[in-house]
Amino acid sequence: MEKICFLVAAVAVLSVNCFALYSNTDEEALLAFKTRITSDPYGILADNWSNTASICNWVGVSCSRSQQRVTALNFSGFGFTGTISPHLGNLTFLRSLDISTNDFHGIIPPELSNLLRLEKINVGFNSFIGEVPSWFGTLPELQHILLRNNSFTGGIPPSLCNNSKVRILEMGYNFINGNIPQEIGNLSALEVLYLRFNQLTGSIPFGIFNISSLKALDLTHNSLSGMLPENTCDSVPKLTGLYLSNNLLYGQIPSKIYKCRYLEDLSLSYNHFNGTIPSAIGSLTMLRRLFLGINNFEGMIA
Ligand SMILES: *[C@@H]1O[C@H](CO)[C@@H](O)[C@H](O)[C@H]1NC(C)=O
Ligand SMILES: *[C@@H]1O[C@H](CO)[C@@H](O)[C@H](O)[C@H]1NC(C)=O
Ligand SMILES: *[C@@H]1O[C@H](CO)[C@@H](O)[C@H](O)[C@H]1NC(C)=O
Ligand SMILES: *[C@@H]1O[C@H](CO)[C@@H](O)[C@H](O)[C@H]1NC(C)=O
Ligand SMILES: *[C@@H]1O[C@H](CO)[C@@H](O)[C@H](O)[C@H]1NC(C)=O
Ligand SMILES: *[C@@H]1O[C@H](CO)[C@@H](O)[C@H](O)[C@H]1NC(C)=O
Ligand SMILES: *[C@@H]1O[C@H](CO)[C@@H](O)[C@H](O)[C@H]1NC(C)=O
Ligand SMILES: *[C@@H]1O[C@H](CO)[C@@H](O)[C@H](O)[C@H]1NC(C)=O
Repeated sequence: MEKICFLVAAVAVLSVNCFALYSNTDEEALLAFKTRITSDPYGILADNWSNTASICNWVGVSCSRSQQRVTALNFSGFGFTGTISPHLGNLTFLRSLDISTNDFHGIIPPELSNLLRLEKINVGFNSFIGEVPSWFGTLPELQHILLRNNSFTGGIPPSLCNNSKVRILEMGYNFINGNIPQEIGNLSALEVLYLRFNQLTGSIPFGIFNISSLKALDLTHNSLSGMLPENTCDSVPKLTGLYLSNNLLYGQIPSKIYKCRYLEDLSLSYNHFNGTIPSAIGSLTMLRRLFLGINNFEGMIA
């Protein structure tokens, strides 16, 4: 493509041709995407995504000013039903893809692994099936991965944890099973890990509590077992929310819980925690919500 472009410019044809050449790929990709939408209750396709208008004027499409390449798609809440065309993988300038709150089904096509500039992907609140794509771990700029409220199955791919830029990882309300991979501790920029309402088993990898950027950890409503390490709070100074209720966790609440000093929400109910409730909880001055009910605690607060 680039070569053709330079040639055209060299023979002094209008550079506009050059840009038209570039965006044809994007146009083709979006037209292919459009053909797979089977229901459009708000009439967006007919009224706005007209085949004669530039794709950059379609509602939900953002382009770079200079090159007219598609940089962001936001079709959140458009009411679309359909599947995702593999052609979307040709939008190589795409940085943000938000197709949340529609009724897309089928799988996330592997061709999307070509989107090397992608920083955010939000496919939440749809009906996607299949495994969580392992290639999320290979997209070098990816920071937000939001997959909640779909029907993803299988385990968390360890290769997903091979990405030092990921800040938000949301996979809540799916059917994800197996262990949380030990490699999760490699997500050194992680701020939010949201895995609630899945079918995860095994223990919580201690490496999670070594991620100093971590702000919220939500593992509620799984089948996680094992104990919380005594040094749970040693290396997570920014933690404001720890949500572990409705699991099979046991053992004592770490007595050094006071080291999570910005903790606002602590939810440990519906587990098998035992021993005494440490008095250190009383020194958590930011605490707003505390749920400890339905465990095996004994005696008074120590
Ligand atoms: C589609 O809608 C957007 C925003 O409402 C508007 O700016 C644009 O001109 C419309 N495009 C067409 C082709 O009607
Ligand atoms: C997409 O648009 C919605 C509003 O319609 C907004 O809330 C959301 O933040 C946008 N997504 C992205 C990734 O900017
Ligand atoms: C875009 O992607 C599709 C499917 O992945 C592929 O078959 C096609 O050749 C690509 N088109 C262009 C113009 O690159
Ligand atoms: C998300 O999924 C859960 C579990 O299936 C469901 O209870 C909840 O209503 C869903 N939320 C939305 C907004 O669809
Ligand atoms: C993780 O990334 C490194 C370096 O980029 C690579 O060598 C390794 O194969 C990757 N591991 C997985 C499991 O993808
Ligand atoms: C990822 O985590 C594994 C297991 O915790 C560790 O052995 C490996 O060295 C880590 N890889 C990187 C690239 O940090
Ligand atoms: C956490 O970090 C400490 C200090 O860097 C290290 O000694 C320990 O092995 C790490 N723990 C895990 C489970 O990665
Ligand atoms: C708590 O439960 C564990 C595992 O069942 C057990 O080993 C331990 O003795 C119990 N501790 C107390 C104080 O009851």
